Order: sequence, then structure tokens, then C-alpha cells
Amino acid sequence: MRVVSGIQPTGKPHLGNYLGAIRNYVALQDDAHAKGGECLIFIADLHALSMPHDPAELRASTLELVATLVACGLDPDKAILFNQAQVPLHPELQWLLNGTARMGWLNRMTQWKDKAGKNREGQSVALFTYPVLQAADVLLYQATHVPVGEDQKQHLELARDIAQKFNNDFAPKNPDGSDAPIFTLPDPIIPKEAARIMSLRDGSAKMSKSDPSDMSRINLSDDADTMAQKIKKAKTDPEPLPSEEAGLADRAEAKNLVGIYAALAGQSQAEVLAQYGGQGFGSFKPALADLLVAKLGPIRDQFVALKDDHEALDAILARGAAKARERGAPTLAAVYSALGLVRH
Ligand code: TYM
Repeated sequence: MRVVSGIQPTGKPHLGNYLGAIRNYVALQDDAHAKGGECLIFIADLHALSMPHDPAELRASTLELVATLVACGLDPDKAILFNQAQVPLHPELQWLLNGTARMGWLNRMTQWKDKAGKNREGQSVALFTYPVLQAADVLLYQATHVPVGEDQKQHLELARDIAQKFNNDFAPKNPDGSDAPIFTLPDPIIPKEAARIMSLRDGSAKMSKSDPSDMSRINLSDDADTMAQKIKKAKTDPEPLPSEEAGLADRAEAKNLVGIYAALAGQSQAEVLAQYGGQGFGSFKPALADLLVAKLGPIRDQFVALKDDHEALDAILARGAAKARERGAPTLAAVYSALGLVRH
């Protein structure tokens, strides 16, 4: 069992990141540890170059993200925690996979289409080739489980396609003539509840670090009052909550808040509606705010306690990067060799 996943350091980590992904990193870290497997979680700082960025901010937010991940329960003694920039095997493998990935595959990526919009010509090359780096991130370590939110599913399918084509085109033969595949095909692990948390201001847009409105998201670093205020101001409709899930079908904002409650409480949406059906947001929102503060408050306190110890945070990254380089080296060597590239 090899668990691998990444998170970008641009902007502040939010509730969507936590429920969609980080919480699963922690669960799978423990699972892998118990089964003698390994869990590698990295900060995707190289991916951050695909959009305009401020270097000083990137450095600061990288360290803050380490503090956040540890505050959420990632344990540097159980998981390998690092940033891509200290493991050049990632961009190295990306280049080698650029020969396998097809332009047409990348052109179909919805994230590329959404982010580029009508201005494709003006985008960085990195934004277009970003999914190939993401494929390299997981294939480098022979990942079996990749915990992600739903928005990353398509990128993971692409990673599988690249792995499959590379294996078909270049896998060496075993002595008995069968193929000896170089890459493991990774499985995405997407949570049932909370796979896609939506903006608090617009139930049709996902909660995102890049949304200009801070009111659209709950940041993991928000204090209790800010969280409560954001829930109070969250967009809703005037109807009371329905008693059954079907009643949420055309009510994106209500559905989102019920989904957040369910994910935080460890309940199904049906269970939440059995309790709150018939009640208005005047009573549901305070209950949700209390639950949020109860679940995220301790994470925030831990984050505040860790965030200024840059030496300790840098040491976690350096130690993780050394281990990651070791884990990735055999795959990279096999890829060079399969491609006929001479390296002595
Ligand atoms: P990023 O940094 O946008 O998000 C990190 C993780 O959080 C999940 N997520 C969400 N889940 C539910 N609801 C939301 N509103 C929400 N917003 C974000 C994402 O699905 C993700 O799991 N390209 C990736 C980073 C990456 C990566 C990788 C992930 C780079 N290499 C290799 C997995 C494997 C990204 O930008 O995630």
C-alpha cells in the first residue's frame, strides 16, 4: 500500500481541502502505517508556478501549509512529508513522460479549460502540462491509493492513461516473455460525503483558494468568530430544510451546508435531514457553526502553535525530501533504462 497525494501552497487551505482530501490523508497514513505500507504527502510548490505568483508569498505559504498538515494530524514520523522542489525526480520524470502524454489528452482536461478560459494563448506552458507533472508525482512512487477531492479525478484518470501507454510501449520483458510493467496504475480515493464542497456564496462554484471573496470559504486558519460569521452570512434560500434528500435536489446552497454538516458529524445527509428537516436556517446555521468550531478549533490552535517555528517546519520538509528521493530513485532509473537513455 503506497499512499501518495499533493496539495498546492497557493492561497489558504480551506474546509474543502480538509474534508475532500486532508482528512483522508490522515486516515490512510494510519492505515498504511498499520499495514507496513507508506504514505507520501507533498506540497505541490512546482505546480504553483503554473499561475502568476509572488515568490515571497510562495515560501511563506509553503511553510504554513506544513504547519496546517501537521495540525490536521499528519505525523512526520508516520508519513513522508515534503515539498516537490526538493525532489527534482518529479520534474525529471515529467519530462520523460512528456514523450508519452498526448496533446489531445491534455486539451480535454476540464481544469485547463476552466482556468484558461478564452485566453489559451496567454497561459503559461506549465498550466497546460500541469497534469503530466501530477502523473509523475504519483507514478514516481508506484502509488496505489491517491486520496483526492472529486475535482482531481480526471487528472488521476490521465495519470492512469499515461502509465498504461508507457507500460504498453516500453515495459521490458520478463524471462518468460511476459511484460514487466514499470508503473502501477493508481486508484483515486474520493470521499463519499464532501467530495466537492461548494462556495458559501455560490452553490454552483467549488470552494476554492483562488476565489477572490474570503467569505466564500472557511479557512482552516480562521478563528471561531470568523467561522461563525461566514456560516451566518452563507447564501441560502428562505425554505425550511426538507426531511428527505430528494428535497435538496434544486437547492445547491442548502445541499452544500447539509453536506458539510454530515461530513463533519460523520453522518449521512439523510441522518442530518432526519434531525433538522422542517427547521429553518435560523436554527440550522448556528448548529453548523458550533460543529465547525468544535471540529476545526483544535486544528487551528495547533496550527497557531506550530506556524512560526520555521526551523522545525523546514526540518520536517528536508527529512521528508531525503526519504522521498530514496523512494523514487528506483522507478526513475527503470524509466531511463526502458527509454534507452544511457546514464552511467
Ligand atoms: P489543490 O491544492 O487544489 O487541492 C488539494 C486537495 O483538496 C481537494 N479539494 C477539494 N475537495 C473537496 N471540495 C473542494 N471544494 C475542494 N477543493 C480542493 C482537491 O481535490 C485535492 O485533493 N493538482 C492538485 C495537487 C496535486 C496532486 C498531485 C494531487 C499535485 N500533484 C498528485 C494528487 C496527486 C491540486 O491542485 O489540488
